Order: sequence, then C-alpha cells, then structure tokens
Amino acid sequence: NPSGESPEKKAAGIAAAELVQDGMVVGLGTGSTTAYTIAELGRRVDEGLDIIAVVTSYQSEMLAIEAGITLTSLAEHPELDIAIDGADQINSALNVIKGGGAAHTREKVVSRSAERFVIVADESKYSEQLDHYVPLEVLPYAKELVSKHVRKLGGEPVLRLASKKDGPVISDNGNFIIDASFGVIDNPVVTSALLSQAAGIVEHGIFTNVDEVYIGKKDGSVQKLS
Ligand code: A5P
Repeated sequence: NPSGESPEKKAAGIAAAELVQDGMVVGLGTGSTTAYTIAELGRRVDEGLDIIAVVTSYQSEMLAIEAGITLTSLAEHPELDIAIDGADQINSALNVIKGGGAAHTREKVVSRSAERFVIVADESKYSEQLDHYVPLEVLPYAKELVSKHVRKLGGEPVLRLASKKDGPVISDNGNFIIDASFGVIDNPVVTSALLSQAAGIVEHGIFTNVDEVYIGKKDGSVQKLS
C-alpha cells in the first residue's frame, strides 16, 4: 500500500490506469505514484479486467502480487501495450529524470518495450528546466572510472548510500548507484548520449521516450501533457 495518502499522486495514478484495457500486457513502474496505478488496476482485476503485467522492481512485484495482478516476463511477452511509471523530474519537452528509487534500468528496458509510455506524477515534479541529479546504475568495480567520466562532463558524482544499512545502496540488479549532478541540463538528449557511451554505466536515469505525462494537482484534477 502507498504510505501516506497523496491526493495528487492518487489522481494521476488512477487517471493513467484508465488507459489500460482488457487483453493488454502492461508494464508496471516503481515508486509511490505508480503504487496507486497498481492498486487501481488490482481493483479492476477484481471486477474482471483481464490483463497481464511485467514489473520494474521488487517493489512493483510485491505491490502487483498483493493487488492480484497476473505477472509475466519480458522473455514471455517482449512487446507491451503500455508502460506506466513515475518520475523524479519532468520538463515541457517530456524529457524525464528517473531513478530516485534506483529502479531506472529495468524501468528503461520496460518502457522501451512498450508501444505507449506514460508518466504519472504530482505537480512538484514539473520543472521548466531539468536540474535534478541523474541517477547512474554502475557496476561496482567501475565506480571510480564512472566518477571520473562524470567529472569530465562537468558533473559532480555522489555514491548513493543506504539509509538502513552501512554502505552503498545495491540496486535490484546488484549494482551501485551514483547520483550525478550537472546543474541545469540544457540538452537532455546530448547528456543522455554522453552518459550512454561511458564504460561501467549500466543505465542512466534520463528518459527521452515519454509519450504522455499525467500530472496530478492539489485540487484533485489531472493535467495531461503530450
Ligand atoms: C524509481 O527509480 C524512480 O524512477 C521512480 O519511478 C520515481 O522515483 C518516482 O517515484 P514517486 O512516484 O514515489 O515520486
């Protein structure tokens, strides 16, 4: 269950769930906003909605199982009808930074496997300019090499540490996370390409493949950007 009710996140999460129809293969994102989408899909499955889903993390797997949604894998269903996921920051060009929950690698693979990629977020995530740190999932032995690469690109790398364990956060894939701050990212497509070239970065958190964004407002309304 999502902890601490958020009407904005709930409104966005439920609005995007309405896009899901019988027979679809659905990608389920990670985070507190998609948790509302997953709960809503579970409610509709109870009422007879016929879907199968691919998860993006252990978190979404646990929520989907709890919601009674039948799970499949990309090996069995490599083509998804839709993927719905959260975001850490969104601009008007629908470039998005993700990975605050260290799940962006699977999220990117799932979103790239989907015909339609929809982002759900509360309005605090919207920004004219992207200046959020970019999460990098990094092979543990490439930590120093990747940090050097980030500095060469003008960024500041910080190894993400766990809050309830001594030492670094370990991703669902067994890797480290480096949060790279670049200040304002003027050209997300270029920064994305430069990060993709680096050895040792499994995946970075810049997403340039978003089709639609549902932004939940405090008054419970939802704004759609596309
Ligand atoms: C997971 O790594 C992120 O990409 C999440 O999708 C993102 O942090 C959104 O989470 P909230 O909906 O909880 O803000």
